[in-house]
Parts: sequence; structure tokens; C-alpha cells
Amino acid sequence: MNTLIGNDISLAAELLKQGEAVAIPTETVYGLAANATNPQAVAKIFAAKERPFFDPLIIHLPSTDHLLEYVMDIPEQAESLMGIFWPGPLTLVLNKTSVIPDIVSSGLDTVGVRIPSHPMMLELLQKCQFPLAAPSANLFGRTSPTSANHVMDQLNGRIPYIVDGGQCLVGLESTIVGFPKEGATIYRLGGIPLEEIQSVVPNIRIDTHSSSNPSAPGMLTAHYAATKPTYFGNAEMLKNQIKNRSFSLISLSESSLGDRAEHHLQLSREANLNDAASRFFHALHEANHAHTEIILIEEFPDEGLGRAMNDRARRASSRDRDQTV
Ligand code: TXA
Ligand code: MG
Repeated sequence: MNTLIGNDISLAAELLKQGEAVAIPTETVYGLAANATNPQAVAKIFAAKERPFFDPLIIHLPSTDHLLEYVMDIPEQAESLMGIFWPGPLTLVLNKTSVIPDIVSSGLDTVGVRIPSHPMMLELLQKCQFPLAAPSANLFGRTSPTSANHVMDQLNGRIPYIVDGGQCLVGLESTIVGFPKEGATIYRLGGIPLEEIQSVVPNIRIDTHSSSNPSAPGMLTAHYAATKPTYFGNAEMLKNQIKNRSFSLISLSESSLGDRAEHHLQLSREANLNDAASRFFHALHEANHAHTEIILIEEFPDEGLGRAMNDRARRASSRDRDQTV
């Protein structure tokens, strides 16, 4: 299949109506979208990404107008969160109606839903008149794409079209919140800082460890991986991993390891965590393409979007954890 990149939203809508999977920009990361109400179309997402069927998808809507066609029993805390953070990088896991096929939710009774804020994605959603199921547009387990070229790198030949909406402004996937019987729970740290969620739901739980039960919320431990060895920790710990190997270094700003790095990706000279987050996955893609043997990611401050970056970096490095910190 020939994969084209362009900004023709009408063409993208047409392909989606025909049941194709199309890559689309959002403010968080690029998604691989299909008509969420059409199981055959959704199956193409799983095929193109080589994603296992036990990992459920989230759906995207242009507004809350038709929300109740797709989800029900919305808790009060969910209403408050959507009132403040939609459109934006927040996914709410809610009870689904029968309009959402099982392939989307991996057989769960719940489905993740969000209203994204990227203008091209909103325009596309309005044209489609059906929700778009869309996971991040990377091969399963690999680094999430924050530009159309990142998508092309991984999905070339597997999908007909990539809508180019520029660099993603947030650069990390949405924060995911669910409402199990234990109470409101963060399943994935993401584009909305924990502190901001807590300002609305003060006693929210955090449970982001789902590798033991992948059909349940959240994410697998090994994820976001580059294709070369990746280590994560503070500068002191990372120093011990170098062992004469050439390395790319990803750090928030200056680093004591900077002089020794063949390739140093400083995410924000001013150490601004939001700016850094918007560049994080791009840096990981670059480090992966660089002519260095390994990738070192220096720990971020444990606050704001630093937490979500630490989470991604920990998972990106988990294959190499035996030798790491
Ligand atoms: O920012 C985002 O959320 C991006 C853009 C494209 O919107 N999408 C995204 O999708 O990151 P994906 O599939 O890469 O990650 C969604 C996560 C998965 O780890 C999945 O396990 C979890 O959401 N998830 C989906 N439905 C769920 C459900 N019903 N209960 C718990 N977790 C769910
Ligand atoms: Mg993903």
C-alpha cells in the first residue's frame, strides 16, 4: 500500500467513511484512527500496529453533544473533570453503551473517551459524524509519534494516509482517569499534570501498574521502546552504564554527563517541563536514529509533566532494566 502524507481533511474523512485506518494529529501524539462503530475498520488499526486485541482503544469525539450515545452512568467527578479539561489531554474511562463494539474495548464494559483540542482533528471529527477509535500511531510497544514523519517511519506501507498537523504541542499521551468501585483512579499519567487533576479530585488514587493484568486499565510495563539499549536514572547511575559505549543523552537541561555524550538532547534550556514534554518523544526518536550505541535518559524532577516523562522513560528502558538502576 502506498502511504501519503497531506493535509486534506476531506480526503481523510472519506477514507474513514470507507472503513480505512488513517493517521491523524492530536495535541498529545499522533493517533491511528478508524470508525469506532465499525468493527472491520477498527480491526485494521490492530493489524497495522501489530497490537494485541487485549489492549483496548480510546474513542475521540468533537464535543459532548452525542456523548451519551456511547457512554452511560457518568459519575459527578467525571463531569467536573470534563468540564475543566475538555477539549484536551484527558481520557475518561466510563461505562460503554452497546454502540461501541467489543473490539474497541477488548471486551470490557468500559471505554476510554476524550475530546481532543487539535483543530484539524476536531474538524475531521465533525466531518465524520462517528467517533474515531485511535491509539497512538506507533507499532505496538514502540515510541509514540509526535510528527507525521514519525508515523511514516513506523507505518509506511501499512495505511493509506497520514494527516499532517505539525508537531504535537503537548507531546505526551492523555492522562487517563477511571472510576472503579475503589474510587476515582489515574490509570496513566499524561498530558495533564497530576497536581491539576488533584485540584479537582483531591483524593484521586494512582494505579498505573497493569502489566499483571493487561486487559485491565492502563499500560504494559515494557512500552515506548527505542530499538537500541535504553537506560534511565540519575546522572550517577547512568555513568555506570556507559562502559565505553557511545551514547545519546536525553536530559531536561544541562547535565554532568553532557561533555561525554556524542549526542546530547537538552529538552529545555530553561528547564521548563511543559516545553520538555513536547519534545520528549521527538528526542527519543532522534536518539534512536543517531549513530550511537545506547540511549541514556536522565531522570526529570518528580513534579508537573516531569512525572509523566519519568513514567515513559522508565517503561522505554524496562527491557534493559536488568543492567540498569
Ligand atoms: O493521547 C492519547 O490518549 C492518544 C491520542 C491518539 O488520543 N491515544 C493513546 O491511545 O495514547 P493508546 O491506545 O496508545 O493508549 C490508550 C491506553 C491504553 O494503554 C489502554 O490500555 C488504555 O488506554 N485503555 C483504553 N481503554 C481502557 C479501558 N476501558 N479501561 C482502562 N484502560 C483503557
Ligand atoms: Mg500508545
